[in-house]
Amino acid sequence: MTSYADFYRRSIDEPDAFWAEQAKLIDWQRPFTRVCNYDNPPFVHWFEGGKTNLCHNAVDRHLKDRPDQAALIYVSTETGLEKTYSFAELHREVQRMAASLQALGVQKGDRVLIYMPMVAEAAFAMLACARLGAIHCVVFGGFASGSLASRIDDATPKVVVSADAGSRGGKIVPYKQLLDEAIRLSSHKPQAVLLTDRALAPMTMVAGRDHLWSALRAAHIDAQVPCEWLDSTDISYTIYTSGTTGKPKGVQRDTGGYAVALAASMTHIFDGRAGETYFSTSDIGWVVGHSYIIYGPLIAGMATLMYEGLPTQGLDKQADGGIWWRLVEKYKVTAMFSAPTAVRVLKKQDPALLKKYDLSSLRALFLAGEPLDEPTARWISEGLNVPIIDNYWQTETGWPLLTVANGVEQTPSKFGSPGIPMYGYRVKLLHESTGEELTQPNEKGVVVLEGPTPPGFMQTVWKDDARFVNTYWKTVPGKMVYSTFDWGIRDEDGYYFILGRTDDVINVAGHRLGTREIEESISGHAGVAEVAVVGVADSLKGQVAMAFVVPKDGSVLGDSAAALKLESEIMKRVDGDLGALARPSRVRFVSLLPKTRSGKLLRRAIQAVCEGREAGDLTTLDDPAALQQIRDRVQAG
Ligand code: PRX
Repeated sequence: MTSYADFYRRSIDEPDAFWAEQAKLIDWQRPFTRVCNYDNPPFVHWFEGGKTNLCHNAVDRHLKDRPDQAALIYVSTETGLEKTYSFAELHREVQRMAASLQALGVQKGDRVLIYMPMVAEAAFAMLACARLGAIHCVVFGGFASGSLASRIDDATPKVVVSADAGSRGGKIVPYKQLLDEAIRLSSHKPQAVLLTDRALAPMTMVAGRDHLWSALRAAHIDAQVPCEWLDSTDISYTIYTSGTTGKPKGVQRDTGGYAVALAASMTHIFDGRAGETYFSTSDIGWVVGHSYIIYGPLIAGMATLMYEGLPTQGLDKQADGGIWWRLVEKYKVTAMFSAPTAVRVLKKQDPALLKKYDLSSLRALFLAGEPLDEPTARWISEGLNVPIIDNYWQTETGWPLLTVANGVEQTPSKFGSPGIPMYGYRVKLLHESTGEELTQPNEKGVVVLEGPTPPGFMQTVWKDDARFVNTYWKTVPGKMVYSTFDWGIRDEDGYYFILGRTDDVINVAGHRLGTREIEESISGHAGVAEVAVVGVADSLKGQVAMAFVVPKDGSVLGDSAAALKLESEIMKRVDGDLGALARPSRVRFVSLLPKTRSGKLLRRAIQAVCEGREAGDLTTLDDPAALQQIRDRVQAG
């Protein structure tokens, strides 16, 4: 067996040979002529000249060897639906969906926006887009009309695929209504909307625009739609993510590089084998859902378990903190992928639930999306008795950047550390202000990557190459490196520890949100003069948003009834614009915000005060009374 150190070194020293080898893990309709084109940094083109298709690799390729094996296992504890699609059945459903999209005018290169709850049709729609060479843009169902409208305007989709509603803990989320409102707000109007009716909420159909999937599916029941062979560098999808500005960025990914990266990660990192079952508890609206609910496991020929519902409710809709373990037993799940927050929720359940089921199929639990705290890691590790594998990455990277590659060589994990750099990633730590590389162990710096970035990494920001270069590659003067915007340290054994974001991004229950977006929503309220939103540590969700508002009417400060009323209006506004996930846990009113003399908000100081820490360097603080007010408000509870 190769040592991981050798494997990694080869990926860095001989990237062409290394990745040409990995590229054999997928099918190519036409072989590539150049492995890596890095002639125009920081842009990278992987596998130029090659033609392939993600849907072919995820579905069609497996029809020969495993047509009747499970491909998609769908479980909803919200509706009680449980259904398994074999590869042959998935192939048929995807073709019906592809034919329906074609009937609505979708062609190669067109954008299809998918705004859906966790239903099997969402998977069909993503795969159907890949089949046609249409670019899918999945928007997380937790986002409300305002967020959705700005994404519709940026993606300019020809068609939107949606549903009547989703359900969370029995509470109905009216997707169709939220979508209608978003289309009313957006300047771009999609030509058609394709709707799955789950009979959860009434739908008002817009004549000429709205179509029912059940009708189009029936009309295309025997459809045969071949895969469109795409250039390796053709765009497969865009996915929006938050950054420092309020405007979300469309992270754009290619086709061939992504397919190779996922296939390689399934082998080397997730140790997944064809015929086995993979269970990721994420959502298709996040990058983890794209890479490890849909494409990764299917490309590997595994069954993927797609789950709608809370981790604490059973198929009979009764409380059941063991539902996930029940599913692991039933479907013989070998690899599971979740987020620390979900484990913290489960930790509140009866520990006996972990012993109730036969979990012997499970070989590892992968956790990502936010820091994994040691008590949570220990609890689940003792309960499951399998390796708990933390992995650190981003929407931008598409697959893990730091973790351990047990598929290459068994490597010990360290509590609190996601691990070591994965093959293909040239990871460095740089000094925050000088940009010098930190070479000594345990020095804190910014985690950056040197180019060329590996296959699967974002190509650019959709329609905005300048934003890609300026946002990510120009943060360090005189050096072109990709900034992750995360702080990190590396210990003497080469293990990295991630210490939070350097920018205004917060992480609520593993969901990435931009505080600027929340601030923009709150500033839109007529009663708000100024606002600062910061992320504050929370024992369950990792972080929650906290808002400090300067009201236009100063009397609110001394009138608790008026303050409560304004707080609730502000929360409603954020719910309506962005969704409940972004709603601040508290809105606190102050007469001024702590700023530097040049007027820059001192968010880090506000955050520190909220978390009961020292506020750090305050030499630039304009008026100390502002910070004292925040301290008083926080202490008042
Ligand atoms: O701050 C890091 C944190 O989540 C950010 C990326 O979020 P997102 O784009 O939603 O991608 C999630 C993909 C798993 C990172 O910049 N983060 C992600 N994983 C970890 C983490 N922080 C600590 N440990 C992790 N394992």
